[in-house]
Amino acid sequence: MRVISGRFGGQRLPASVASSTRPTADRVREAIGSLLAARGVFDGAQVLDLFSGTGALGIEALSRGASALVSVDVDPRARRAIEQNVRAVGATEQTQVIKLDLLRTPERVIAALAALGHPPFSLVLADPPYREVDKLAPLLELLANSPICTADALFMVEHARSARLPSLASLQIAGHYTYGDTAVTLLARVDQMSEREDESMGSELVSPEKAVSAAVYAGSFDPITNGHVAIIRSGLVAFERIIVAVLTNTAKKPLFSVEERVEMIRDAVGGDPRVEVDRFDHGLLVNYAREKGVRIVLRGLRAVGDFEHELQMANMNRHLDPGIETVFIMANDWFYVSSTLIKEAAALGGDLHGMVPELVEKKLRDKFGR
Ligand code: PNS
Repeated sequence: MRVISGRFGGQRLPASVASSTRPTADRVREAIGSLLAARGVFDGAQVLDLFSGTGALGIEALSRGASALVSVDVDPRARRAIEQNVRAVGATEQTQVIKLDLLRTPERVIAALAALGHPPFSLVLADPPYREVDKLAPLLELLANSPICTADALFMVEHARSARLPSLASLQIAGHYTYGDTAVTLLARVDQMSEREDESMGSELVSPEKAVSAAVYAGSFDPITNGHVAIIRSGLVAFERIIVAVLTNTAKKPLFSVEERVEMIRDAVGGDPRVEVDRFDHGLLVNYAREKGVRIVLRGLRAVGDFEHELQMANMNRHLDPGIETVFIMANDWFYVSSTLIKEAAALGGDLHGMVPELVEKKLRDKFGR
């Protein structure tokens, strides 16, 4: 395991913890790092890392500009690993490693944290055992309302994609991201939300320093073409983050399975940390966008022929949720490329070089046995 980015970037974290601790996958750690960095929450942050495990996430925060870290874990093996890893990158002076059973009496946890006399925490990272995520709610409530945390502290909870966080009276979802089977939910105090990511969406402007502009680019992507890739690239000029969402329950019978479509998109653009590739299999696109904490639906326009259907969809989506806006990007040179035509040409042995990413070209050849 290595620190991914920042001043300790590339440095090895020698200690790992066997059995009970589930270390966050590098890919997820990288994604969490990028999304928190894009929100500017690391700069000078006081970080509280709960269920710290190997300490990798907290160390990543220090590496990316946090001022101080308190790492908490009840398991002595984990605490030894954290200490070793912190030493390896030379961050012992900024770090305190403490023992606390976070799933027992939350009031005791709060008292113990208060006793540290640490400056208020502005970023709380929590990666509890997946099965215990429900038990975290009372502790988060208490933390959010105690002077241990700043009023505008951001809380990040890592959990299983299939799990829903229990609803909290004082904290509201400020972002939700999925990476394979893992999900990351960001929470902020309800009374801070208008400054962070106003839930009424669209009715008030979000303060530009705090907002991360993001868009959902949904579609069948059966398969992704260079036209789609161009829209994503242009989209990244306008937005800091793009979630490419593959529709799974499409009425059309797809040529490629969802897994194949996701693989081809990842291969084409997934290496870019600003792009998240996700699958989208539950109902309305506007609901999906809301769940992800995103207000923009990105669509590409190839030619006049697309316009009518896109106009209908954009208006339908606005009707369904007035807080979600559709933004169109022109497809430039790729106006004649569609997944449907690509499949037709591939089936008839046409040369698609340059029109689709290389992996797609190969998979089409395999499918049609050419
Ligand atoms: O690549 P496609 O096939 O043009 O994408 C169409 C997509 C996925 C954007 C559209 O079918 C969609 O939004 N489906 C989700 C269901 C929904 O929200 N329907 C109401 C909006 S018109």
